[in-house]
Amino acid sequence: MCGIVGYIGKREAYPVLIKGLKRLEYRGYDSAGVALLNDKNNLRVYKTKGKVADLEQYAADKDTSGCIGIAHTRWATHGEPNSNNAHPHMSFSGDLAIIHNGIIENYAFLKKLLQQKGIKFNSNTDTEVLVQLIDYIRTKKKTDLLTAVRIALRAVIGAYAIAILDKNNPDQIIAARKSSPLVIGIGQDEFFLGSDASPIIEYTDKVIYLDDKDIAVITKGKPLDIVDINNEKTDHEVKTVDINISQIEKGGFPHFMLKEIFEQPDCLKDCMRGRINVEADNIVLSAIIDNRKHLINPRRIIIVACGTSWHAGLIGKLLIEDFCQIPVEVEYASEFRYSNPVINSQDVVIAISQSGETADTLAAIELAKKKGAFIYGICNAIGSSIPRATHTGSYIHVGPEIGVASTKAFTGQVTVLAMLALALGKERGTIDNMKYVKVINALSEIPAKMEHLLEQSDNIKDISRIFTYAHNFLYLGRGYNYPVALEGALKLKEISYIHAEGYPAAEMKHGPIALIDEEMPVVVVATKNILYDKVLSNIQEIKARHARVIAIVSEGDDTVRNLADAVIELPQTEECLEPLLASLPLQMLAYYIAVAKGKDVDQPRNLAKSVTVE
Ligand code: AGP
Ligand code: GLU
Repeated sequence: MCGIVGYIGKREAYPVLIKGLKRLEYRGYDSAGVALLNDKNNLRVYKTKGKVADLEQYAADKDTSGCIGIAHTRWATHGEPNSNNAHPHMSFSGDLAIIHNGIIENYAFLKKLLQQKGIKFNSNTDTEVLVQLIDYIRTKKKTDLLTAVRIALRAVIGAYAIAILDKNNPDQIIAARKSSPLVIGIGQDEFFLGSDASPIIEYTDKVIYLDDKDIAVITKGKPLDIVDINNEKTDHEVKTVDINISQIEKGGFPHFMLKEIFEQPDCLKDCMRGRINVEADNIVLSAIIDNRKHLINPRRIIIVACGTSWHAGLIGKLLIEDFCQIPVEVEYASEFRYSNPVINSQDVVIAISQSGETADTLAAIELAKKKGAFIYGICNAIGSSIPRATHTGSYIHVGPEIGVASTKAFTGQVTVLAMLALALGKERGTIDNMKYVKVINALSEIPAKMEHLLEQSDNIKDISRIFTYAHNFLYLGRGYNYPVALEGALKLKEISYIHAEGYPAAEMKHGPIALIDEEMPVVVVATKNILYDKVLSNIQEIKARHARVIAIVSEGDDTVRNLADAVIELPQTEECLEPLLASLPLQMLAYYIAVAKGKDVDQPRNLAKSVTVE
């Protein structure tokens, strides 16, 4: 979940590390630290609670010299966020410094063993156990560091991306991964390390993604040496990263989240580019062409995902069942992985993930694979773990998403799911041609309609001011807009810390209506579709109980306008594509409410961008 940066080469390491940490701060931000080594074997560790800016301030008057270093922003799992528990952690000999992303699950057992050997601990973290264990093995067995790391990692249960500095070896970083991402950037006589490519891309576009159980020995002036946990050499392709700096900077917006909301029209164009051909009324997804035999006639499809990606999955189910007539189940990956699902080789599992690193989704994929299912990934982060673990898939191509609250990834996921359902339905002959053509055309018009919607941002900002002081919100929607209600509620809670619930509108009468009074604003997606009249009745019921209603309506709908306290108009589109439009005003509403409340929108408390631990 945390951010890892490393540097070894000819430059001063500290500025590279700090800049890298700032780029990675969205991954974890409760404390930060850095370890620096110079060629006089002088190893220094500076760490502090808070943000990277606090670390910078703390280190301002310290010696930050050295051309080799590792740095970390933490998202605490073991031990409260304070300076002591911040990384890097040192070993008992004072020789080794480690940074770690993940969880050492058997840390308590290992810690007890080490304490019995007389080793004293300085923090409450699981991470410190690992560095003490490595140092213990190294001194006890008189081995080199690589051997000690290999032996230690064999004893470890859990997930890790680690980087280690050894005071006695100022030319080397040892890095390793299992279930947590780690990328090595290859420059001219220099190497960079990152938990994703963002701290690396301004120096080089050549990277190697480490695989599970890889251990990399990164030595100044030498080629990379990567072995597995059994000391067998492993080969890696050097990949070219196709991300430019502007994609990971705010570009004049006050927050990444707002930038990402406004990027959506362009992102969806990128997502559809080369896949939708409007002139030929056709959709081409290479994953379907290459894997016809697995995808055309499955017994059923199971979608696994977490959070926002799970909401996209709910829309995917409606699309696939509608266009392809294949039964679809949508499961939380975290529940699925610990169930005993009845799956076999006739099933297709679709795993959806923005980061491509979510631990539960990865574990769900492994389980489904073991049972013989064919796995299709829908991801954003290129080269991340999920695309590598799946049999095939489609990237959503919306560019790096930095704001912790997912926005453009959601609409990208829904767009890919719509294209997938259309293409599969066409191949199977389960969608009639007129509808196929109509939806393709409507999909290609979505970016322009999003532009139009974004022009209403001032109106939404004004609406948000009225609702800033609410303590609870209810979000209602039906059919395709029920997942939109869930997603709208999730956005609000994540960044404004206002309690919000999403419900299918008709379920209101079965319980939530008891909560409704003048203190409880209700957001209703009430577009003109087949369920419009029913949702209208729900609005009447809400108004009868004096709650304020914010309604998302179709353009020109005066009936709801006369009932609701605030309205946001959506351009007309096909019902199945309404989520692509309706989710935008809800993202903006959450954003403006959170900003008005003075919350840290891009780095909300307790959250992290990619949840690489269970
Ligand atoms: C979205 O706003 C959340 N921060 C979160 O629910 C997220 O969608 C979830 O953790 C899944 O992440 P993934 O798409 O990277 O797998
Ligand atoms: N488990 C470690 C800790 O709590 C690492 C957390 C992280 O990934 O930031 O310190």
